[in-house]
Amino acid sequence: MSSESDISDSFTMSAKVMAPTRKDRIKPVSLSKEIHNAQHLYREARELQQRAFQGIAKGNPIDVAEFQRCADGIIDSLFRNQDALLCISRMREKDAYLLEHSVNVAILITIFARYLKLDDATIEQLATGALLHDIGKIQVPNAILNKPGRLTETEFAEMRKHVVYSRDILMKSEGISAVSLDVAANHHERLDGNGYPQGLKDHQISLHARMIAIVDTYDAITATRVYKDGQTGIKALKILRKDSPSHFDSDLVTQFIGAVGMYPPGTLVKLESQKLALVLENNPAKLACPLVKVFYHCKQRHYLNPVTLDLAAKNCNEKIESAVDPAEYNIDINKFFNDFILNA
Ligand SMILES: [Fe+2]
Repeated sequence: MSSESDISDSFTMSAKVMAPTRKDRIKPVSLSKEIHNAQHLYREARELQQRAFQGIAKGNPIDVAEFQRCADGIIDSLFRNQDALLCISRMREKDAYLLEHSVNVAILITIFARYLKLDDATIEQLATGALLHDIGKIQVPNAILNKPGRLTETEFAEMRKHVVYSRDILMKSEGISAVSLDVAANHHERLDGNGYPQGLKDHQISLHARMIAIVDTYDAITATRVYKDGQTGIKALKILRKDSPSHFDSDLVTQFIGAVGMYPPGTLVKLESQKLALVLENNPAKLACPLVKVFYHCKQRHYLNPVTLDLAAKNCNEKIESAVDPAEYNIDINKFFNDFILNA
């Protein structure tokens, strides 16, 4: 039932000349058309992170407008073709976590917000907040940040402070929106109150903070770090499910799976025929049947001539057996990606 304020809002809306939405403005393109642009944007976003980290270390303020422009470019690319940047974000460079994680979280939260049909302004604010959410890590000592082992209680307490550092830096930054600040300040809060820094609970945690908690955790689990190998996307989704509703909002986790798919682009999968393939495009109608590039035979242990295969096609008999870790087969997935996808 509409309330009076809903009705008056809709009158105000129709009285205004509405600017075209991003969806109306942007024409979808193929993966091959977007992939180089996406790679360029990803590199630029990484460089922006690096410059910001160096700037803060010298005591310079954050140029929020520069992050907003960066977020805008990422969102445009994802609206043209969602699989291109998602695929690139899965091709990780070792030891680049600090620079890549926030870019990946911005990509994932945009995909998530678009799936939830949030409005353009909110998507922009979420992506900007995601790019900046871990900016406070620059104030955590490197010995703790890059420690190749378990942190002690004291070290972990110091590590947790990065959220407060992020919040303080952003509160001093001109032009930051309330949504961007919320996701940065509350990305480690958990529904049962066991998060940090404030130990907020249930309804005290906004929709946007619940969303970033999911995507931040997903990216952290799938990343290879100095002290651990990255897990597959499926494993990360299982962990998110297991930790719902204690940590994460169950309904939102379900929606997130719908948004990124069971096998997001960039995932290495083993088919039942014992061939390895790289996922190229999600199929929203059939999450278990993406478009893949088959390129390796697991049993015979040799490369094959890469072939694109639509697992949802009627005449296709192949099925995914599981997502696999490239290291298990000694495969340099980044090299394959560069040779056969980027430079094809
Ligand atoms: Fe964090």
